[in-house]
Amino acid sequence: MTRILVLQGPNLNRLGSREPARYGRKTLEEIHGEILRMGEREGFSPVFFQSNHEGALVDRIHQAGDEGISGIVANLGAYTHTSIAIRDAILAVGLPVVEVHLSNVYSREPFRSRSLIADIAAGVIGGLGPVVYRLGILGLLDCLEQRKQDPAPH
Ligand code: DQA
Repeated sequence: MTRILVLQGPNLNRLGSREPARYGRKTLEEIHGEILRMGEREGFSPVFFQSNHEGALVDRIHQAGDEGISGIVANLGAYTHTSIAIRDAILAVGLPVVEVHLSNVYSREPFRSRSLIADIAAGVIGGLGPVVYRLGILGLLDCLEQRKQDPAPH
């Protein structure tokens, strides 16, 4: 079965109580529950990982490259805007990544409009709340299907 890594960056373990007006009231566990149920319906297996540490996220991306993960849906939180190391890890493993954000980063402080991941991502989805994870997975599954049919480099 297709295995998808759902990668969660810093401060996302606080969802539910963290700035609820911006990020909503759902906890990370509840969001992961929705993804698990989607996986049962759609026939993929999600693997979840959250860390507040840049190096741990880099290590998890490397591991994904070695363990037969098909692609990654990633909310890298603030590291989206700063981490060359995470960008390089994604390039090193060569797995397709969809970047997601709960909030609309373009309507916030200017520094959030810069992503070090977006230009190497298969796609970017943001601003719609927790549904971004499920939309990101749908997009990733479609992208994997297209690659199967047309294995030329994308
Ligand atoms: C975020 C947006 C980031 O700018 C911020 O640092 C986060 C959450 C989002 O999901 O909207 O931690 O990635």
